[in-house]
Amino acid sequence: MKVELYEATDQNPNLKDYDEAVKNHDWQEVEKHFSWYETGKYNMAYECIDKHVDDGRGDKVALHYKNGDQKLSYTFEDMKKASNKAANVLKDEAGVEKGDRVFIFMARSPELYFSLLGALKIGAIVGPLFEAFMEKAVRDRLENSDAKVIITTPELLPRIPVDDLPNLEKVVVVGDGSDDKYIDFDKSFEQASDEFEIEWLDKEDGLILHYTSGSTGQPKGVLHVQHAMVQHYISGKYVLDLKEDDIYWCTADPGWVTGTSYGIFAPWLNGATNVVVGGRFSPESWYGAIQDLNITIWYSAPTAFRMLMGAGDEIVNDYDLSSLRHVLSVGEPLNPEVVKWGMKVFNLRIHDTWWMTETGAHMIVNMPAMDIKGGSMGKPLPGVEAAIIDDEGNELPANRMGNLAMKRGWPAMMRKIWKNDAKYDSYFIGDWYVSGDSAYKDEDGYYWFQGRVDDVIMTAGERVGPFEIESKLVEHPAVQEAGVIGKPDPVRGEIVKAFIALREGNEPTDELKEEIRKYVKEGLAAHAAPREIEFKDKLPKTRSGKIMRRVLKAWELDLPTGDLSSMDDD
Ligand code: PRX
Repeated sequence: MKVELYEATDQNPNLKDYDEAVKNHDWQEVEKHFSWYETGKYNMAYECIDKHVDDGRGDKVALHYKNGDQKLSYTFEDMKKASNKAANVLKDEAGVEKGDRVFIFMARSPELYFSLLGALKIGAIVGPLFEAFMEKAVRDRLENSDAKVIITTPELLPRIPVDDLPNLEKVVVVGDGSDDKYIDFDKSFEQASDEFEIEWLDKEDGLILHYTSGSTGQPKGVLHVQHAMVQHYISGKYVLDLKEDDIYWCTADPGWVTGTSYGIFAPWLNGATNVVVGGRFSPESWYGAIQDLNITIWYSAPTAFRMLMGAGDEIVNDYDLSSLRHVLSVGEPLNPEVVKWGMKVFNLRIHDTWWMTETGAHMIVNMPAMDIKGGSMGKPLPGVEAAIIDDEGNELPANRMGNLAMKRGWPAMMRKIWKNDAKYDSYFIGDWYVSGDSAYKDEDGYYWFQGRVDDVIMTAGERVGPFEIESKLVEHPAVQEAGVIGKPDPVRGEIVKAFIALREGNEPTDELKEEIRKYVKEGLAAHAAPREIEFKDKLPKTRSGKIMRRVLKAWELDLPTGDLSSMDDD
């Protein structure tokens, strides 16, 4: 296959010479940017917001929030005051203290950002939850983390099993004060002081807890610490190429790591104007947002680009997108034809970036000063040492496929899996962090994604664990056994497909498929509901009773099933 090369044309990127930057990189130098360097302490919320006010940029717009026709804008000064007020509410009324887990469960709104920053000012660890989560997903996360406080909205409140969570002390509701069992955010916010004494923190103090899925077991609580800001800042500068007059839009929800690391921290650490767009995706609302807000940098995902591509090129002509100067992608493989389409309709290169919830920040990237090879994830961020290794931890030569791995020690690296040290340790072979992705590196040092090593499903850029869905499926009274796989899909990358063996006495009808789908959608989350269900008399299992997903996948793709020696076939 011929690789398309897209040469770097940007005349003035923040990072001008990749090879030099790799050679000279020193994390200690980057730390000089932060108050920590002088005082030995810092706080993410201060560095994101208050610092810009202290540096005389308080009048600059920090946040544009757009939802349909509604548009709200806040300066850094406004954000400082609003996050101080939220901090006072959380501290005085909800009793939040340093280190407490505070969850935020709401659709994107200015209050989400005020309260997230407010919780950080107290030194709490924030757990953002995606608004599509249903009761089980919410319960698992609050329970595992012993969450003390949750901030939510009236619509989502019924999904929080408040009375079943003994450690959950307070519920803060934004937008409705009708029940005095809960703290009325709006009322308390109105009355709260806009001054707050920030809690100064150490490098290793907690910052954020993102739950993410693996192939086995319940979702894992990935803990990041304050020190991550060093990498958020420098990747924001080098990769997002943020400059002070940029208007930057990351399309991800803060329920996912992209929506915090690059939807909150990186842009504000760099003092850029950050854009948040609420509501649902449509080509009109997205192109409209770029046009109306004069967005200059846009960070999104392959599924979204493919949907825009599917909407046709003519619609692009209805909008003035000339403000755009830099476009990036994350979450799944960025197809070469999407990069080609980006050149055609925006006359811009789409820069792929590779990283994970666990890595906390960019690891393998394409930057403005680099040539892009269509279909490649790029090269390691300066300061990150990557390699392709075999299962024993030996580095493999160029063009050999193996485990994509990084040498431990980058600042944004997760520091623990909440209450699961064994899981944390299982990520490492010696000093190598093993990503779970397979890839190869070419002779020029570019990395090429090949697939997941495990059964994790990437659907529309979201990572879903088959186990969590299988567990939900078998709770349905008609389901005996369930095996879940990712089935390749031209738009979403993969879709969730479930193979189900029914309990005696149930008919395999289309109505039942629909009912089961709905059951997962309402019990877990919409994106976890199988788009396809296939009934089978029996599922392939190992002798120890584990469903063999690789056999299901081989059935699906009409591939040889491979070694079946461990299969139980009676
Ligand atoms: O398989 C890789 C895929 O997404 C996984 C990480 O998922 P998550 O923790 O949800 O984080 C997504 C956004 C940071 C990876 O193990 N992935 C992420 N970026 C890429 C990718 N696959 C191919 N190309 C990418 N650029």
